[in-house]
Amino acid sequence: MIIDNDETLRKIIKLNLMKTIGCDVIEMTSAKEALDLMRILPELDLIICKDLIKAEKAEKAGLIVANYLKTESLKTPVLVIGNKDSDYPYVSSIPANAPWKDIVAKASDILAPGEEVPEFVPVSVHYFLNINTIITGCDIYIRVKKSESEFQYVKRLHAGDQFIREDIIKYQESGLREFYISKDNFTTFVNFVTAELIKKLADTSITGKERVTLSSDAYKITTERIQNIGIDEITIELVEESIASMNNLLKEQNSLVMFLKALYANDCSFAYAHTYLCCLILHKVINSFEWQSPQIKDKLTYIAYFHDISLTKQSLTEINSQEELDDSGLYTEDKNAVLNHALQSAAIVEKFSKIPNGVGAIIKEHHGTKSGIGFPETLSHSLLPLSMMFVVTESFVDEFLKIEGVPNSENLKEIFAKLQPRFSKSTYGQTLIAIQGMIQNKKK
Ligand SMILES: [Fe+2]
Ligand SMILES: [Fe+2]
Repeated sequence: MIIDNDETLRKIIKLNLMKTIGCDVIEMTSAKEALDLMRILPELDLIICKDLIKAEKAEKAGLIVANYLKTESLKTPVLVIGNKDSDYPYVSSIPANAPWKDIVAKASDILAPGEEVPEFVPVSVHYFLNINTIITGCDIYIRVKKSESEFQYVKRLHAGDQFIREDIIKYQESGLREFYISKDNFTTFVNFVTAELIKKLADTSITGKERVTLSSDAYKITTERIQNIGIDEITIELVEESIASMNNLLKEQNSLVMFLKALYANDCSFAYAHTYLCCLILHKVINSFEWQSPQIKDKLTYIAYFHDISLTKQSLTEINSQEELDDSGLYTEDKNAVLNHALQSAAIVEKFSKIPNGVGAIIKEHHGTKSGIGFPETLSHSLLPLSMMFVVTESFVDEFLKIEGVPNSENLKEIFAKLQPRFSKSTYGQTLIAIQGMIQNKKK
């Protein structure tokens, strides 16, 4: 069980423990919640717990859990992140600022002391789309079932082998989702892929459809990298190049038409289309507001790029209302990811240093709540103007992308008829009128 109110850290630790020792992990956000469950489920192998949880009410979670186990005469080991100020004998600790890798290593050691961790980890096939060779030490395997419970790894790509994008697409088409790599080389490999992507993104000779695909690939790798590796220098560089790439696409001739062609030819993911179209429309819409400026346009690019950055699963970025969430059939964990994604994405943005001021504040409000949690029933008129503009733009883009095939003027009319009653006042109304004007101009 892991008790921490920091969702990102919880998820990283959970994912990595599952990956390295294959255990199940229950996530809890407070000691109170954890104790409620422990009363009915006392058999836990390990509890990882933050020493102090500063939610609405500060809670000395580590101490509460240790005291409970002591009173119940249980011997469950506890790993406190921070200070272990308890005399429960089965408690150990790790500094509050320890990197997640150390927390996972220590937890693995308690759970499976001295046990060899599985040697291979999966890498999604899409990591190979923009590289043409494998670096030394990073041989790539495929996993083959040996028996009901055993797998065998067969070397498929050797260091130095040359291949092209089409080769990888063939693997994808044959149903292969993941290659495998030795666990020790995972980070080296991902860094190599990222470096290659950065190089390609900076290559100005790549334009049009090819740049759309490249930007879409880079966007996916960025979201996954933030989750799996974190925000380091390489992540920052990748984001900067990705943003520059999005700006280059905006500057291309007939950028909308060109992008839509790429989209309808399936050359780009839904998640990237959603991000890019929000950006493009915001850049046009802002021209109708007298307070526009190049700085605001720059800010809008960052807002569009980062607004759903905490969602790694594409299907989650498609949800834009409580109703859609209720009907989604998602697991609670994914539902929570959707409900909190505005707040989470804003928190991720704050960790990047060179980002225009105020981007996080808008991202937090991008679904219309001031708290950054959930979907509001009625629209708030106290949001920042750019947030209101974003809410309308995103709703338009979502409706636009729901249409199968190329939208015709009838489809567009229906979209505006649907959005009009909801977005009729203040900046909401002005934005919708501006989008309508922009579309009519385009049609001409
Ligand atoms: Fe979104
Ligand atoms: Fe969103």
